Amino acid sequence: MKEKILVTGGTGYIGSHTVVELQTAGYEVIVIDNLSNSTVDSLNGVASITGITPAFEKIDCCDKLALDGVFKKHQDIKAVIHFAASKAVGESVEKPLLYYRNNLVSLLNVLECMTENKVPNFVFSSSATVYGQPEILPVTEDAPVQPATSPYGNTKQIAEEVIRDCTVADANLKSVILRYFNPVGAHPSAAIGELPNGIPNNLIPFVTQTAIGLRECLSVFGDDYNTPDGSAIRDYIYVVDLAKAHVIAVERLLACANKTNPEIFNLGTGKGLSVLEILEVFEKATGVKVNRKIVARRTGDIEKVWADPSLANTELGWTAKTPTSEMLSSAWEWEKKLRDSR
Ligand code: UFG
Repeated sequence: MKEKILVTGGTGYIGSHTVVELQTAGYEVIVIDNLSNSTVDSLNGVASITGITPAFEKIDCCDKLALDGVFKKHQDIKAVIHFAASKAVGESVEKPLLYYRNNLVSLLNVLECMTENKVPNFVFSSSATVYGQPEILPVTEDAPVQPATSPYGNTKQIAEEVIRDCTVADANLKSVILRYFNPVGAHPSAAIGELPNGIPNNLIPFVTQTAIGLRECLSVFGDDYNTPDGSAIRDYIYVVDLAKAHVIAVERLLACANKTNPEIFNLGTGKGLSVLEILEVFEKATGVKVNRKIVARRTGDIEKVWADPSLANTELGWTAKTPTSEMLSSAWEWEKKLRDSR
């Protein structure tokens, strides 16, 4: 067994996939989650893949005392990967205080507990949302951060600043900030995947739920963008590729190989696909038709964004290799398994 890694939000979508990759790489993983947007079942999925059930603490990171207790109980934690956060853009507009409290208080608590318990290495889940609509595509890490269009986006920007300030103040704290583009798909075993609460906000769960007949029709938000087919473009990245980048980030910090502090990396494929292209790939890969209608643009959506992932490619030796058809097929397999089991 290698070092102990604490994963907050480890029962969630990206968290659970990352726990699998950490365990596969030999790390001992401790998972914290308040289960507000996930269930502990995902750890059974993890165990069915890796043969190891990680230690689990049902803790809210906003509860500093409880969080500190986890650091005290599991001595000698070497790194923290902090996923725990609320992530629905629309909900954040309606409930800003919930988002500021949940996403920022938890971050402050995690950083304080790390300092007090002498845990030096920190990996943070950030988002391409910090770029807004970039002027130059593909977008690089040094592109200007744009004023946030939602409280959710703002929490990611503020969090990045908090981390930057803390690394300046404390030379012992080392951090990697990962800016995700659009994570999709499920583990190839279909033992873990995305479990949206209620009506999905994100495209792929809505596509799979429509394909399986749970939703009548997918609304394509806008066909009048300045893109080749008029629908909006994103950089869809396979969640397993994304998870693997976290293991590399941890290894880089443990080896003291980071070149700046914090180090910031885009995690994307470098390829943009439109909503209509995604539907075409999904239908071809699965042989299932997706009912759709074109509706008005969704408020707050940007037109197009895709990553320049070359910094992560060269510095981390990481590439998002999985073809889009494979990502979408894995999402479909997961959806079918979910509905079979209910
Ligand atoms: N879309 C539809 N119909 C739907 C859902 C989405 O047409 O029912 C479109 C959107 O308009 C957008 C694309 O599909 O063009 C992707 O939408 P998602 O909601 O899946 O993802 P977003 O790009 O809007 O947002 C995601 C995450 C955010 C994160 C952002 C970073 O949900 O948390 O990526 O770019 F901040």
